[in-house]
Amino acid sequence: MEPTAAAEPTATATAGPGYAEAEIGFESLDEEVRIDDVPVEGALPEWLRGSLIRTGPAKFEVGEQRMRHWFDGLAMLYRFGFADGRVSYANRFLGSKAKRTADERGEIAYAEFATDPCRSLFKRMFSVFSPQLSDNANVNLVELGERFVAMTETPIPVQFDPETLATAGVAWEVPGELTTAHPHLDRDSGGMLNYAAKLGPRNRYRFFLLGPDGAEPEIRASLPTREPAYMHSFGLTERWIVLAEFPFVVNPLQLALAGRPYIENYRWKPELGTRFTLVDRSSGEATGPFMTDACFGFHHVNAYEDDDGRVVADICTFEDPEVIESLYLDRLRQGAPIPKPSLTRFVIDPEGGGIDYEQLVPDGLDLPRINYGRCNERPYRYVWGAGLAPGEGGGFFDRIVAVDIEERATRSWHEPHCYPGEPVFVAEPGAEEENQGVLLSVVLDAAAGTSFLLVLDASDLSEIARARAPHHIPFGFHGQFSRRA
Ligand code: CO
Repeated sequence: MEPTAAAEPTATATAGPGYAEAEIGFESLDEEVRIDDVPVEGALPEWLRGSLIRTGPAKFEVGEQRMRHWFDGLAMLYRFGFADGRVSYANRFLGSKAKRTADERGEIAYAEFATDPCRSLFKRMFSVFSPQLSDNANVNLVELGERFVAMTETPIPVQFDPETLATAGVAWEVPGELTTAHPHLDRDSGGMLNYAAKLGPRNRYRFFLLGPDGAEPEIRASLPTREPAYMHSFGLTERWIVLAEFPFVVNPLQLALAGRPYIENYRWKPELGTRFTLVDRSSGEATGPFMTDACFGFHHVNAYEDDDGRVVADICTFEDPEVIESLYLDRLRQGAPIPKPSLTRFVIDPEGGGIDYEQLVPDGLDLPRINYGRCNERPYRYVWGAGLAPGEGGGFFDRIVAVDIEERATRSWHEPHCYPGEPVFVAEPGAEEENQGVLLSVVLDAAAGTSFLLVLDASDLSEIARARAPHHIPFGFHGQFSRRA
């Protein structure tokens, strides 16, 4: 891959203050449809069979009340199905109790990430002693054994039917009050490894394993913490769990009593620095901490051990958590720019105790995807994600970026008035090369007022096909491709 923008059809960026055109991406979608054949331009590869299933925030107001933050919207499930060169499309609200109760009462019933409807003292006291956690699983989903499960950061994973998108109920127990929607595959067991924060008189970070058919978590590691850091994901090597604590921390007592929306209880304490801990996957024992400069991030990209036993952990980072502020809906709808992410490589020496970091390429990305099946926990070369226009100004994610880490080269796909989401990599069966396959990304076409599913050749970002949805799909976060669904 060369450091050119060969797949970029135009050099005129639409980002900057003008991106308020993308406002429609933060407007509610109420329509639910099932369509066997949506219009397709281009020819899909024969081998592409299965479904891209996604979850995302889709309803931003209930009655007279409005959600405050992008992360708050009530979850919608989406499925793009691929078979015989045709594309089907379906979308359906997740039948969470948050959604059902909102429908019944005509008001927001549960506290979300940055919206808390419990304003009265009575309601607040009630919620402290009998926590009413939202099951609005709008962040990500996982395919575990036979189950498809939508997830958010509350400990209520919601199972659904991948065909009908009907909601089935709570999938399993989570050993804590907070968790991540980014579990890792545990290759040995075929199960899932995830994080939970157990809050109480003694707070603990926990890592737990859940078998492919399991409902009860097995706690594999437990680490004490006074003020838990905001945790959206973690890294994994063959030997280690990589825990990165950015200094954006919460006092759990405040969380229970302060009466602020969830995320507004977190405090930025850059003086603490960023603290890495390595947890041995077989013994559960912790090594560290390894201290470095303060930064913030949502997404670990990948991690592995190099030939010298050092741990390489790549993370999408920001200078600080201002990005969370920038994602309040009032700001987004006005077209205010969001901070630019960096692609940062941390190298930790477990023996000597050192830690270094560097920015891998000048222009970063977020919502990162790799060839997960082949490369997670292992050395790798390619990462794909959503990016922002280079230079000053910024805007919202308006391009798909591919990074060749070996060459330190990037290229991007960009089209005027188009705002792509996370590019999901699907490997071609029997592929020899790491980047042999396609990227699937839901793109908002602000000019048309609708969204389309874009299929790119992952090796050079050339367009293979696009399939148009009948409506706009509000901006979402994550999804998974399943060959089974
Ligand atoms: Co995420």
